[in-house]
Amino acid sequence: MTVLVTGGAGYIGSHAIIELLQNGYNVVALDNLSNSDKESIKKVKEITGKNFSFYQYDLLDYGKMRSLFEKYNFDSVIHFAGLKAVGESVELPIDYYYNNVSGTINLCRVMDEFEVTKLVFSSSATVYGDPKTVPIYETFPTSATNPYGRTKLIIEEILKDLSYSNMKWSIAILRYFNPIGAHHSGRIGENPKGEPNNLMPYITQVAVGKREKLKIFGNDYNTHDGTGVRDYIHVVDLVKGHLKALEYINKNTGVEIFNLGTGKGYSVLDLVKTFSKVTSKSIPYEIVERRAGDIAVCYANSDKAREVLDWSAVKKLEDMCKDAWKWQVENPNGYKSEQ
Ligand code: NAD
Ligand code: UFG
Repeated sequence: MTVLVTGGAGYIGSHAIIELLQNGYNVVALDNLSNSDKESIKKVKEITGKNFSFYQYDLLDYGKMRSLFEKYNFDSVIHFAGLKAVGESVELPIDYYYNNVSGTINLCRVMDEFEVTKLVFSSSATVYGDPKTVPIYETFPTSATNPYGRTKLIIEEILKDLSYSNMKWSIAILRYFNPIGAHHSGRIGENPKGEPNNLMPYITQVAVGKREKLKIFGNDYNTHDGTGVRDYIHVVDLVKGHLKALEYINKNTGVEIFNLGTGKGYSVLDLVKTFSKVTSKSIPYEIVERRAGDIAVCYANSDKAREVLDWSAVKKLEDMCKDAWKWQVENPNGYKSEQ
């Protein structure tokens, strides 16, 4: 079976390709490298000892997308490609709508033309906005608090309309909670450009000496220690959920939404303490103002994924910290370290 992976050079896409190759899938990857490095593709080939084709194509380039579908007989598509920085999306909303929404429309048009109708889409827990209660079920109301989140919501609606229009479509919408960690080899991982927006890469950069201290955004939330609580999930567990979703859409048509989380919430301070414990690195921090748009608590109910997909996250917070640290310490400058 041949799977097209969009955004294949990115953080989650590169981990997904390893899992696909190790499970007997043929992979073709595309990425415009706007937020990634081709080195990740090389590393994935080295880790797996397997080859696959990579195209530096943009989803917005319809002609190139068509040429790819003419060349290969895809069975399904896993669609990771997109811009994902919340703050940047507030500054550059049109770029986000154009890239994420128009890019996905282009992908769906070409899939439709070539009758490739099985799609796994990367959505996000951000579509739940500020939930009234936790854990969060797939049936909870959705809302967006920034343009990035709105692109995910719009795409989800487009995919639902597509599947209602024609039952030949088989679509799994996966709402990720907070993916962190890295492949256990330490050879691929999260590689943010500039100052990290997300907590784990910030912590690892402090630990490796690239940043002086962590800024914790608020300690006056209604949580056990006042800092924000999230559902951190190991990226390898997360990508395994995609293989289960692929199996599911191979057998079922229509559209289904699944939360991919662990069901456990940890605070910023829990993560800092666990990281320090497993790595023996102290993480200096200061408490600063809350970050605009942040919510107090967010964690999943993932019963649906367990029951329908036979998938559950198994890795612990300790594993996530260990693996994130191995990647950081062995590649202090990310993919630039070995070039
Ligand atoms: P990433 O930035 O590492 O990977 C996305 C990849 O898509 C990048 O390599 C980028 O170069 C590529 N890309 C962007 N626009 C493109 C286009 N028009 N054509 C071709 N390639 C393009 O991000 P990630 O963390 O791997 O996220 C993958 C997906 O999961 C994204 O859709 C993201 O919104 C979603 N997601 C991520 C998180 C998270 O915390 N990492 C959480 C929820 C959802
Ligand atoms: N935090 C800090 N300091 C930092 C970075 C983060 O204290 O330097 C705190 C935040 O306030 C929050 C927690 O750490 O309480 C997690 O923050 P992240 O930025 O790592 O993650 P978010 O939950 O804010 O958002 C992430 C992605 C979104 C995605 C969401 C759900 O950035 O795109 O997870 O999947 F939608």
